[in-house]
Amino acid sequence: MKKDFTKFLDINKAVCMHLLERAKDLKEMRKSGKEYKPLAGKTLAMIFEKASTRTRISFEMGIHELGGQGIFLSSNETQIGRGEPVKDTARVLSRYLDAIMIRTYSQETVEELAKWADVPVINGLSDLYHPCQMLADLFTIQEYKGGFQDRKIAFIGDGNNVANSWLEASILLGLNFSLATPEQYEPDRGLLAKARKNKQFFYTDDPSEAVKDADVIYTDVWVSMGQEKEKRERKKAFVKYKIDDKLLKGAKKDVMVMHCLPAYRGEEITDNVFEKFSDIIFSQAENRLHAQKALLEWLMLRK
Ligand code: CP
Ligand code: NVA
Repeated sequence: MKKDFTKFLDINKAVCMHLLERAKDLKEMRKSGKEYKPLAGKTLAMIFEKASTRTRISFEMGIHELGGQGIFLSSNETQIGRGEPVKDTARVLSRYLDAIMIRTYSQETVEELAKWADVPVINGLSDLYHPCQMLADLFTIQEYKGGFQDRKIAFIGDGNNVANSWLEASILLGLNFSLATPEQYEPDRGLLAKARKNKQFFYTDDPSEAVKDADVIYTDVWVSMGQEKEKRERKKAFVKYKIDDKLLKGAKKDVMVMHCLPAYRGEEITDNVFEKFSDIIFSQAENRLHAQKALLEWLMLRK
């Protein structure tokens, strides 16, 4: 049966570890210039209802490097944007293509697409989740810290799609994970309840509590795509959630700072902190490519 990646908890721990291992292999292969084209003749549709730099380019390059082809579909320029039902789009695309990636406003759309498509569906970001980002982030932590199992990871900021996917990862892998958000911007309640079953999970509205002895500090924008109207009130609510030198002092000396990008310097992170950790942050962006190649290989070569 086909598999989908609509959220991080669609995979189990063994698959997650396999994908991270393959991401490493594929990164090494690419560096050494070795060609590997197991997806020759296969095609991936990439539906975008929202803007993207990293997701679009890393999927397009990823499928190309694996020997396949990507087709970019902007929802505005297809019948999707004019209201053709998702379940019809799913069945039409399944007749032409081998997999579908979608970036959309609603998680329900991703799940409806997955339900009706005969081919694997990948969530390239929805209002609720950003699971592909998680694969790249875990891989990056492995690279810089040698693993993530005994490392303390602190997410500071909005309880948004990226925070929810961190919660999923913490549930799947039993991570030492702390989360700090303002009370009115908490993450998904169901996930929070599940995460709380893990004794190493800690949720607070105080960023300095969350970063205490952290090995990794992670942040994301305060205003996600689609929330532009809330910009003013959000900026006010998140003032004390900025990643700056003062906040870093509470963490371990060798703490690493991560950001999924795009970043708004002076808001969720200072320019100084961003530049100090820019090598890690851009490796994180690069690792989207390797992690997603591993995902495409796993989903598209399954029997
Ligand atoms: N991190 C991320 O998904 O970036 P894009 O919005 O540029 O795809
Ligand atoms: N939370 C952000 C992530 C962007 C990659 C957004 O949804 O806009």
